[in-house]
Amino acid sequence: MGDAAAASQYSVVPTITQVSEQNNEKIHFHSIVGRNKLCYTDSRLKYNNPASCRDITYKHTKETVSRYLTVSRTGIQEIERKTIVFYFSGTGNSRYIAQHLAEQLSDELVSMNRLIRQRKLDPYTAQYAFTSEVPFVIVCPTYCWHVPKVVEEFLLDSRFLGSREMYFLLTCGSGTGQARAHAEEICKQLSMEFMGLTSVLMPENYITLFHAPEADEAVGIIRASKPQVENIAQQILIRHTVKDSYSGPAMPELLYRLFYKIFVTDKKFRVKDSCIGCSACAKLCPMANIRMNDRKPVWQGSCTQCQGCIAVCPVDAIEYGRRAKGKRRYYLFADGRQKFPNEKPRANSAQSGEPKR
Ligand SMILES: Cc1cc2nc3c(=O)[nH]c(=O)nc-3n(C[C@H](O)[C@H](O)[C@H](O)COP(=O)(O)O)c2cc1C
Ligand code: SF4
Ligand code: SF4
Repeated sequence: MGDAAAASQYSVVPTITQVSEQNNEKIHFHSIVGRNKLCYTDSRLKYNNPASCRDITYKHTKETVSRYLTVSRTGIQEIERKTIVFYFSGTGNSRYIAQHLAEQLSDELVSMNRLIRQRKLDPYTAQYAFTSEVPFVIVCPTYCWHVPKVVEEFLLDSRFLGSREMYFLLTCGSGTGQARAHAEEICKQLSMEFMGLTSVLMPENYITLFHAPEADEAVGIIRASKPQVENIAQQILIRHTVKDSYSGPAMPELLYRLFYKIFVTDKKFRVKDSCIGCSACAKLCPMANIRMNDRKPVWQGSCTQCQGCIAVCPVDAIEYGRRAKGKRRYYLFADGRQKFPNEKPRANSAQSGEPKR
């Protein structure tokens, strides 16, 4: 990628508060939001009035020791803090987790879906470079016990400037298998320092192969994710490496390749007469793989099986051969609401004996 083409630079408005130790003394630093700036006021001095620090919002105190903080004699620091939480998400789980993580880290959230789609629509101009002073964080689903190929490709085709550290947080239905090794390999290729991969259990979304949980069960899983994300944010703030609780054995390379060859296709998608022509499926597809023709979706052959289209359709008009027939479509909106949250349990194939993942 040429320098001239490197495009997007991101900045953030952070809102964290730190406690730092110097000379065995605890100093409370209140972080205050300014435009792209963190202003720290030292509690020993008289500067701890947030109003003395420009236009700003005052935030709460957290007992965290941060290595981002360098204490100066004046007791006041203004630190440029630019960092990015990237997310890729088919049905909303990873977006939801990334949003919460970014809130905790006070970092900017960037949708890989949007950038990937842009690149698909305009491969010649949509090239990306990102600058961050502190680690990059990648949030995405687990696909076949790996980091999704589409995310791998996005990362390898982008430039990362500034910080050399990268974290991965994967959402999964049951386990991440060898995603850790995969993420480490991606970091190696990017010449980034791998800060670890961790994961959070979220509702299964892979309904063209398995099944999604009922609405109530999904609510419980989603609720349980929040404290886990907060814990992970603390680890990232202090730049600890993270570990994964749901990792598993390595998968033979051949099986992984077969998975993509056999299962990652859009050949079986079809639309029912109940389609109302709303284009929600086409607008959502991160691969720009759906064209509307005569107000009906037509799949174009470059699907990554994210499940977005089949899940988001407001009238459940999309089927995948017979594999998704009668199954509950799971989709989580950005505000944490599920599509059809009051849906009654369906007599889906899970109850008729289809194996859980
Ligand atoms: C193609 C595909 C492959 C998947 N493979 C796995 C897997 O290997 N392990 C797992 O626990 N979950 C797997 N899942 C489930 C998703 O990782 C999980 O539901 C995730 O939270 C979905 O995130 P999203 O809503 O952000 O797309 C898979 C889902 C899809 C669509
Ligand atoms: S066609 Fe559907 S499943 Fe395939 S990438 Fe697009 S939204 Fe995802
Ligand atoms: S989201 Fe559903 S109703 Fe809307 S165009 Fe796609 S298939 Fe038709």
